[in-house]
Amino acid sequence: MTEHFDLPGGGVASSSPLVGSGTEPTIFEFSVPGRKSSSFRNSGVDILDPASVLDSNFLRSTEVELPEVSERDLVGHFTRLASRQYSVDLGAYPLGSCTMKYNPKFADNVAGMPGLSAVHPASPTGLIQGWLELLVMAEEYLCEITGMKAATFQPAAGAAGELTGLLLIRAFLEHTGSKANKIIIPDSSHGTNPASVTLGGFEVLTVPSDEDGLVDIEALAKILDDGVAGMMMTNPNTLGLFEVKITEIARMVHEVGGLMYYDGANLNAILGISRPGDMGFDVVHSNLHKTFATPHGGGGPGSGPVAVSSALADFLPGPKACRLNDGEGKFGWEVPPLSIGRVHSHFGNALVVARALAYMIFNGSDGLKMASDLAVLNANWLKASIDDYYEIPFNGVCMHEFVASARQIKKDTGIRGLDIAKSLFERGFHSPTVYFPLIVEEALMIEPTETESPQTVRALADALIDIAKLARDPESKGALHDAPTTTPVRRLDEARAARNPKLVF
Ligand SMILES: Cc1ncc(COP(=O)(O)O)c(C=O)c1O
Repeated sequence: MTEHFDLPGGGVASSSPLVGSGTEPTIFEFSVPGRKSSSFRNSGVDILDPASVLDSNFLRSTEVELPEVSERDLVGHFTRLASRQYSVDLGAYPLGSCTMKYNPKFADNVAGMPGLSAVHPASPTGLIQGWLELLVMAEEYLCEITGMKAATFQPAAGAAGELTGLLLIRAFLEHTGSKANKIIIPDSSHGTNPASVTLGGFEVLTVPSDEDGLVDIEALAKILDDGVAGMMMTNPNTLGLFEVKITEIARMVHEVGGLMYYDGANLNAILGISRPGDMGFDVVHSNLHKTFATPHGGGGPGSGPVAVSSALADFLPGPKACRLNDGEGKFGWEVPPLSIGRVHSHFGNALVVARALAYMIFNGSDGLKMASDLAVLNANWLKASIDDYYEIPFNGVCMHEFVASARQIKKDTGIRGLDIAKSLFERGFHSPTVYFPLIVEEALMIEPTETESPQTVRALADALIDIAKLARDPESKGALHDAPTTTPVRRLDEARAARNPKLVF
């Protein structure tokens, strides 16, 4: 160790091995008073003293505490954090339901074009004709893909889309004088569905799945009456199975005056193959950040546009981009006549829409269909490769994902679904979704996605088989209990942060 000499101002050194198990300091720990990162772009707007424009009530009385770091330390910090995380760029991420797939980089380039990224959303329409055309085009493409009439891009994620869709159903029913207040959801549904129904002011009615993992039509018939405002479903459902009786279900719900809501989280299974509108749905949210070139979750903001049939178009949030009837082919903004109002400031996370449109144009209709075909092929191939080693409770032909169960393995060996999921990290794969859907015990919900090569899907199958064999070997199963042991962070107590939150303001 060399002799240390004191440096003024504190701060810690910023360098580390490629992936380490040491703890990365917080950005505040790198802070040294007066140290700056100097590569901010000059916006060209004069810097004003806040006191000259704001009432004194709105001014801070103390300095805001921000980290003062150099660009070098900043980049080092976040690069180290990134290299300790599993990511879609690093490898396969077979997270069922919440699709996480590799997103092509050209879409990043499109979203980064200054003509799109450096535009203020409050710019006058004359200056943003290109942006408006982009939004109108994206709406037309999305309506073509989903079989709907009009769409809003305001919702910032799937769950925000769900709430928007339910508020649209509420507004429509109130407009027609209906007092219906119950929304039916299958027992296999995603947790956001009942949460959105409740938040939208409706009551949740659950319909069970039948022995094939599909909506039990007879049970549905029993709960349908004129108090039913609608039914919320995803198709394929969260077991990865296509609801083959969907048109019959839609007819039954429509007969009692209810509307059909399509949770489009699983749209990447059916692009160019079938359309929610043709299945009988009236409202559809799509997760652009799952299906079309933006990673879901930590990778950036999302976009959960809601598309509707012509009966609901007048209720959509506004303003929305539109073609003007000015004979010159110009674009502008419109507020639908019975609009439910805004659900997001400005026009939502518009750069995610730009990425999605770039992805749609680049792939074209044939390419989008091929993406879905490959997603379905990869899932079926993986399922067939592992089904001698894992129980597959609903083992029909699946769509883009399937649900395996570690129930028998746990019963025989004590190794749980969570141990299997964590062990995948040591073999170079992210874990699948676990313990969802709730109707499958020890569920492992696996979605290999279309972006992975056959070699990678085979390697994933080999990893899952290897783990299943180790689980049944008394000598080696202990390693699965402790996994992962080779990653920067070992097994965490997943519930502790929620149970004992440490809130710092
Ligand atoms: C079936 C289903 N519905 C809804 C959602 C909610 O989407 P988001 O996470 O974008 O809010 C998800 C999440 O991935 C999902 O898998």
